Amino acid sequence: MPQIRFPQLKSQIIILIYPFFLSLLGCIPNSPKSVPLAKLERSQQGMVVSAHPLASEAGQLILQKGGNAVDAAVATAFAISVVEPFSAGIGGGGFLLMGTPPENSETQKEYKIQALDFRERSPKAATRDMYLNQEGEVDQRASLDGHLAVGVPGTVAGLYTVHKDYGKLPWSELLQSAIGYARDGFEVSDRFVSRLERRLEVINKNPAAKAAFTKNGQPYQPGDLLIQTDKAQTLETIAENPQSFYTGKIGEAIATDMAANGGLITLEDLKDYTPIWRQPVCGEFRQARVCAMPPPSSGGVHLLQILNIIGETNLPQWGRQNPDTIHLLTEAMGVAYADRSKYLGDPDFVQVPVQELTSRSYAQQVRQEINLEQAKPVTEVQPAAPETLRNYIWESPNTTHLTVVDEERLVISMTYTINGSFGAGVVTAGTGILLNNEMDDFAAAPGVANLYGLVGGEANAIAPKKTPLSSMTPTIVTQDGQLIMATGSPGGSTIITTVLQVVLNVLEYKMDAAQAVSAPRFHHQWLPDKLILETGGFSEATVNELQRRGHNVEMRDGWGNANAIVVTESGVLEAAADPRGEGEAKGE
Ligand code: GLY
Repeated sequence: MPQIRFPQLKSQIIILIYPFFLSLLGCIPNSPKSVPLAKLERSQQGMVVSAHPLASEAGQLILQKGGNAVDAAVATAFAISVVEPFSAGIGGGGFLLMGTPPENSETQKEYKIQALDFRERSPKAATRDMYLNQEGEVDQRASLDGHLAVGVPGTVAGLYTVHKDYGKLPWSELLQSAIGYARDGFEVSDRFVSRLERRLEVINKNPAAKAAFTKNGQPYQPGDLLIQTDKAQTLETIAENPQSFYTGKIGEAIATDMAANGGLITLEDLKDYTPIWRQPVCGEFRQARVCAMPPPSSGGVHLLQILNIIGETNLPQWGRQNPDTIHLLTEAMGVAYADRSKYLGDPDFVQVPVQELTSRSYAQQVRQEINLEQAKPVTEVQPAAPETLRNYIWESPNTTHLTVVDEERLVISMTYTINGSFGAGVVTAGTGILLNNEMDDFAAAPGVANLYGLVGGEANAIAPKKTPLSSMTPTIVTQDGQLIMATGSPGGSTIITTVLQVVLNVLEYKMDAAQAVSAPRFHHQWLPDKLILETGGFSEATVNELQRRGHNVEMRDGWGNANAIVVTESGVLEAAADPRGEGEAKGE
C-alpha cells in the first residue's frame, strides 16, 4: 500500500461542523458565474453529444437510420477526426466504455460495463532512454514534436473491434459523414484557428502537415473552408477495409514515412496492434455504481479513490463552492495524483495496486488524516523532487470525448486523443493522417514532468510495446440496473478532476446535465503545488480563505470540454456539451 505520511490529525467533529460556522458567518457569498450555461437538449429516444456539432450530427443521423449507440459512436468518432483534427483522430487512440442494460432483470440486475483499450502503444524499437540526450537529460521536445513522438495508433482497430461485435449498421455506412466533411470541407472555427496558430511552427516543418492544415504556411481564418482530400481518400479506404490501416497501403505509407524521418513505427508494429477488452473499475458512491476506465488509464482508479475519500461527507450540506469542500477535494486530489505518479502504469507490464488504491479502508485513512484547517505541503504527501519538474505548460490539451445513448439505453462513453494540439505535428504523406505525440505520456525519466506537468516513475517508464499512462476517464454511472449518467472530458491531467466534479454535480448537487458541465471547476494534481481555480468562478472570500489555509491559488481561464448525458427520473435523456467548447448535443 502507498506509504503516505500525514501531519497531526484534526478531530472529525471540527471537520463536520466547521462549514456550518463559515456559512453562518455569511462569509461565503454566492460565487459569480464564470461561463455561460450550456444548452440542455432532451430526447426520449437517443442522444449524441460530442465536441463538434457536425460530429454530433453524424451520430444523430446514424441513430435516425436505425443504428445503435455503437454505430453512432463510430460515426461520431470518425467525424471528429475530420472536423476536430487537432484533438483526436485515426492517428491516435483512446478508451471506450460500453454499458449494456440488463436484458432480463431476473437474471441480470445491473448494467454490464465493458472497457475497450485502443490506446497507442510504443513501437517495438522504443527504449527507456530514447528521449535522453548525451548528457542524460531529457530532450523536452523530442517526445512532443516529430516522428519520434508518435505511438502506434489504435483508433481504427478500436472502432472496428467494438463495431464488429456490437454494431448494427454496415461499417462503411458509418464513415460516410466523415468522408463528406473531409471531401467537401467544413468551416473552421476560432477554436481550430487558435490551436493551429499555437502549433504553426511545428506543423510548417512537416510538408504534409503544412499542406493539410495551412494555406502555404499561413493559418486558416475562422470561417474558411478546410478541405482534406487525402483524408477523404484514406477514409474511403478504411470504409472498404479497416485492416488497410494496419496491413495494407495506409500502414505501408505510415511505415515508409516513419523510416524516412527518424520515426520508430514499422509495418510489424502496425500489424501487431491489438485493442484490449479490460475490466472497468467500478465502485459504489451513495446508491450509485460508478464505472470508469481501468489502467492503463489512471482515470478510473483516481476518480473512485477521490469519491471514496469524500466518503460519508455531506457535500450538499457543505455547499459546492464552500472553501471546506474545495479544500477537502483538493487534499484528496493531491493524494490521488501522488499515488498516480508512483503506482500507475500499463497493467500488462507492472502490477498496479488497483484494489488497494480504490479500497474504502485506504480512503478512510486518508480522509481521517486530512486537516481541514491547513493544506498539506506536497513534500509531505510523497517525497518528490519538485526541482526536477519541467516548466508546467498549461496548454490546452487536445483530446475529445463523446457520449451516446440509444433507444435501448445502450450507452457509449468514449474519450480519445492524439495528445497535444495537432499531435506530433506530423501528417503521413499522401494520407492526411495527423499522428499523435502520445509517447510524451510516458515518464521520459523518473520525476520528469510531461506536457501536463505530471510526473511518473518506474511504473510508467518506456518499454517496447507498452501503453503510456493516461488520465482519460470515460465514465458510466448506474443505479439498480438503470442508467443515471455518462460523461467524460478532454484536458490532460485535469480530466480526472473535471469528470469528478461533473459526477458530483449530478449525484450530490442534483444539477442537470447543462449545469453540471457548466459549473466552475478547480484542480490540483499534487505537483506542481498549485490549486487552480477557474477565473470568475469563485468569490474573493473563498479565494482568500483557501490561501489562508496554505493553498497556492492560481486563477486560470476555463479548461476541459466535458459533455454528459443524464437520465431523468422519468427516463428522459438530457444532454449538454461544455460551454467552454463548441460541442453540441443532438437528440434522435
Ligand atoms: N494524452 C492525455 C491522456 O491520455 O491522459
